[in-house]
Amino acid sequence: MNNYLTLEDLESLEESVNEIIRQKNNSEVFSSIGQNRRVALVFLNPSLRTRLSTQIAAEQLGMKVSVIDFSRHAWPLEFELGRKMTGNRSEHIKEASMVLSKYCDIIAVRSFADLKDRVYDQKEVVLNSFKEYSEVPIINMESSTAHPLQALADAITIKEQKIDKPKVVISWSPHPRALPHAVPNSLIRMAKKLDINISITNPVGYDLDTSITEGIEINHNQKEAFKDADLIYSKNWASFSSYGKILDIKENWMIDSEKMALTNKAKFMHCLPIRRNVVATDGVLDSSSSIVAEQVENRIHAARYVLKKLISHE
Ligand code: CP
Repeated sequence: MNNYLTLEDLESLEESVNEIIRQKNNSEVFSSIGQNRRVALVFLNPSLRTRLSTQIAAEQLGMKVSVIDFSRHAWPLEFELGRKMTGNRSEHIKEASMVLSKYCDIIAVRSFADLKDRVYDQKEVVLNSFKEYSEVPIINMESSTAHPLQALADAITIKEQKIDKPKVVISWSPHPRALPHAVPNSLIRMAKKLDINISITNPVGYDLDTSITEGIEINHNQKEAFKDADLIYSKNWASFSSYGKILDIKENWMIDSEKMALTNKAKFMHCLPIRRNVVATDGVLDSSSSIVAEQVENRIHAARYVLKKLISHE
């Protein structure tokens, strides 16, 4: 594997998931694989889980870690080619990516969609520019359109439920801010690759990118969609068709215990962070059906697997 930009970079997602589960309690075997190697974790947006899980994973492999928060620790970046750089952006991505790749063996990048220009976001300018000018592998720690580390962790979590042919329902949830599409996009791609029975429920106007949802059932009636579900994956996203907008929705899409009772005793999933009593109630999050903690733990195992593959040139 040369980079981990999307799930497509894994030769076989199914084999990867099985291998990660086998390696979970045996991680010390790899504790010297990353000796004398350094990973740069580059953040253009905030993070708690991705930052810590990737850092812990790297340390478990014996790697050194440099965390760079570009809003505070580095010069503002220019991505446009040929631009006369007279504005506030002091450093071009050409030099920044070259510098990081001289000092580090892997560069991991987080850069969200700005949700203003769909065409620009779909081009993945930041992630692809880091890749273009880097001499070392790049890991996507959530870009404009994909969050493959989260999706890999979620694939492990779903597999560990040991449900035969699980029915997974992705449920749009309310949120006061406009959020990107990266998590649901990667979740759907993951489910398609693993032949998981997945469907989506969201209000009218919130259908995701049809190139990703092609072949997936979309139900605009949340309660109907919850019937027989084994796993409910809650997530908010901004409108895709009215790009980046928050639409006026009359119905209450927050997930509560009554809605969970419509399912087949479903487990509740969310990538976190989650706004309590907006996205889902305390009752759901604090119930035994919530497996968000399992998802969080699996972030470390997913990141360790990806880092190990990249440093071992597997
Ligand atoms: N789920 C996730 O990526 O969390 P962070 O934004 O805290 O990294």
